[in-house]
Amino acid sequence: MSFPTPDEARALHEKYAPTREAFDLVHGHCEIVARIAEQLLPRTGERLDAGLVRAGALLHDIGVYRLYDGAGRLDHRSYIRHGVLGHEILRAEGFPEYLCRFCSCHTGVGLTEDDIRRQQLPLPVADYVAGTPEEQLVMYADKFHSKSTPPRFLSAAEYAEYVQRFGQDKVDAFHALRARFGEPDLGVTTRTAASAALPAPRSCAADTPSRSRA
Ligand SMILES: [Fe+2]
Repeated sequence: MSFPTPDEARALHEKYAPTREAFDLVHGHCEIVARIAEQLLPRTGERLDAGLVRAGALLHDIGVYRLYDGAGRLDHRSYIRHGVLGHEILRAEGFPEYLCRFCSCHTGVGLTEDDIRRQQLPLPVADYVAGTPEEQLVMYADKFHSKSTPPRFLSAAEYAEYVQRFGQDKVDAFHALRARFGEPDLGVTTRTAASAALPAPRSCAADTPSRSRA
């Protein structure tokens, strides 16, 4: 099993980012998610592939770049599509399905066919649910940082409150992940991510505000 190194993941971000601002926001977020996942990895007691977790975390949001218009504005209404768009990008780059799935299967705590039909989401009707432990860890780690304006960390309690609007089953799924992987020390992550002092972009309330999902 092979996957991109951090430098190769960064090069992919540079290739697809329409602006420096978008790159800083999305790549910075992906680096933070990778650090959170790395921090939680030893606590799982499970045998996960650390390199795959890192590569998946570093690339999971690459589809967000496809949602910027020519003026550098993010299409928030279509944000839910960023996962499948990222899957398409990685597939077109020749990466295997097990890597592409980090993009399509990290939204919220998983999107099911039923979610898509009931909420009439603009996605091909299918299950987009993290399957492998590596996918599940990246999806979970992603819930602790938002590309909002300005970008910020979220506690487990804040995410649980946020996801309540999508149903109790989503809250329960989040708590199951929390029990399995534990909660990250976001203070440590903040300090180690000092270089990721993310700028406050003008219009990127990307991950968790309103009804969009991480
Ligand atoms: Fe994300």
